[in-house]
Amino acid sequence: MQGHTPQSVADAAAVATLLQIGAEIGADQVLDSGGTFSAARMAKAADVPLAGITTYLTALLAAGLIVETEVPGDFQVAADYSDLRHQAGYVSWAMHANGPFIDNARAFLIDPVEAARTHRRDGQRVAVSSRWIGERAFYPQIVERVVAAGALRVTDLGAGAGGLLIKLLHEHPARTATAVDSNGAACAAAREAAHAAGVHERLTVVERPIESLVDDPGPVAGAEAILACYVMHDIVADDSTARNVLGALRDALRPGGFLAVADAVSYAQGPEERKFSALFTYLHATFMSVSLPTEQEWLDKFEKAGFSQTRTVPIGLPGGRLFVATG
Ligand SMILES: C[S@@+](CC[C@H](N)C(=O)[O-])C[C@H]1O[C@@H](n2cnc3c(N)ncnc32)[C@H](O)[C@@H]1O
Repeated sequence: MQGHTPQSVADAAAVATLLQIGAEIGADQVLDSGGTFSAARMAKAADVPLAGITTYLTALLAAGLIVETEVPGDFQVAADYSDLRHQAGYVSWAMHANGPFIDNARAFLIDPVEAARTHRRDGQRVAVSSRWIGERAFYPQIVERVVAAGALRVTDLGAGAGGLLIKLLHEHPARTATAVDSNGAACAAAREAAHAAGVHERLTVVERPIESLVDDPGPVAGAEAILACYVMHDIVADDSTARNVLGALRDALRPGGFLAVADAVSYAQGPEERKFSALFTYLHATFMSVSLPTEQEWLDKFEKAGFSQTRTVPIGLPGGRLFVATG
């Protein structure tokens, strides 16, 4: 990896595995809460024996991922925990979330349709690693835009566990938000997270496919900002669906509002992004039957749907772009 020492690569691999073990046992909620915690509290939250958690915490402490507090037996995450978790997200997504694709690569290359039916990824693993990446790579740029525009009615399409909207709800007490996702588990996770964050009264969660907004735009009607992060590539592959869905979003926006789409472009060639972008593009094409648009093809899709201006903003995810469409 250019610009990275073997030590930093070893660090990212080690942190990814340690944190992924935490996610698998349900201890990530405790680590990510930002508060202090004891081994007993983590054992209760994860519903595993105290002895197992004690040895897990010994490893996290030795790695410098957590530190002891002034209260004996209490811990908190280290100051650089979220930076390390962000780097780990790339390793977890690439190697772990995509594990079924890697393990069954031969089957996918022989009969991709049949292999895709049989070898599915674990949605929870995809969502967790995506959040670790997204929280640093593109949530901040979107939050900044929504806040700068003073948008108080916001809808997030393919909202997953609702992390981006919860951040936005924390930013302004008068803001209301709608999360749309076709996956029941993602919707349940968003409701749970909104309750835990105390913003559930201002968040509506709608379990529906984005495509259904063409016939019933209720969840986006009158929104000042419509967001869609790493979900539109599934929808815009077909030209007429792209025109219909993006056109419906444009029509539904309040005058002066904007559509912000964070997504990937096909085989980005920048020196710092080409490797991750190549993996992302290849996995989508061969293992998920999704052909990613180039940057120009994305821009054409917004124009064909009637948006008069689309700006491309770089984001921190290699091969990713933020498209802000208006008019
Ligand atoms: C890669 S995740 C991204 C989650 C979130 N936007 C983020 O950036 O962290 C994609 C999400 O879109 C949802 N999704 C995929 N296709 C969808 C569709 N056609 N309609 C609604 N949601 C969809 C999935 O259930 C998943 O929660």
